[in-house]
Amino acid sequence: MQSGEAERGRAGAVVVRGDWLEVVRGGFDGVVGPASVDMVYADVPFNTGVVKKSPPGGKKVGRVVDAAYGDALGSTGEFVAWLRERLEATKPLLKRSANVLIHCDWRTSHRVRVMLDEVFGEDRFVNHLIWSYGLGGSSPRRFARKHDDVLVYCVEPGEAYFEPPRVRATSNRLKGRTKKATDVLEIPSLNNMAKERTGYPTQKPLELLEMLVVACSPAGGVVVDPCCGSGTTLVAAVKHGRLAVGCDVSEKAVRLSRERALAAVRG
Ligand SMILES: C[S@@+](CC[C@H](N)C(=O)[O-])C[C@H]1O[C@@H](n2cnc3c(N)ncnc32)[C@H](O)[C@@H]1O
Repeated sequence: MQSGEAERGRAGAVVVRGDWLEVVRGGFDGVVGPASVDMVYADVPFNTGVVKKSPPGGKKVGRVVDAAYGDALGSTGEFVAWLRERLEATKPLLKRSANVLIHCDWRTSHRVRVMLDEVFGEDRFVNHLIWSYGLGGSSPRRFARKHDDVLVYCVEPGEAYFEPPRVRATSNRLKGRTKKATDVLEIPSLNNMAKERTGYPTQKPLELLEMLVVACSPAGGVVVDPCCGSGTTLVAAVKHGRLAVGCDVSEKAVRLSRERALAAVRG
């Protein structure tokens, strides 16, 4: 598969192999024009300094790809500069009503937010979402780190698309009913036996991406994930009637994303 090669799913998915910067400059092989994107979600490398590998035990379930990607982009400053360059290049593709969601964690979220203020404007900040996932060990030295950060910015305040998601109410007063979601999203991460698990490292749960896609992009809109990994965002977008557009540097990620997105297109 050539770098930059695109494949259009029969109804609603395009996945390109290549670096976010180059792919976005080429408009995803001409599929995405200026001011046409409704939502960008980027689950960027967390800059942990290690190689992320398929989780152990993955061979027992799902479509295991035994994949890995380097999760080291230098110092935090270098990482932020890397991300800034790609977001600056992506900006011309955004509609006035678009939302940009950057998924990161405690290692970089403080610096990423400052950079996003500079790229989009402080008044374009929408939310600092906490994805609280629970799973994993604890620490005797500190509160256990059990959440990721999703920073949400818009292009034009007042014009940004938003459809408040509803979640199950837990209070006695509202038992059995739903309420508007807060900025803390309590969604379990994928466990070893999860049916949707592909074996791709750091795969995010479909439930999380479905909530974000439905809340932050209109039906029929264009949803872009420039670090698409296993293609979770693309599946969520297709499932909810959006055009899903993704890219990744990893050949395995692109192959898996195409496979998953196509399956979603077929229903
Ligand atoms: C955290 S993972 C994404 C996981 C994805 N959200 C999922 O649910 O499977 C980050 C991805 O970014 C990709 N990546 C790293 N550098 C990239 C670049 N310069 N351009 C595009 N993708 C890149 C990696 O190959 C990896 O698949």
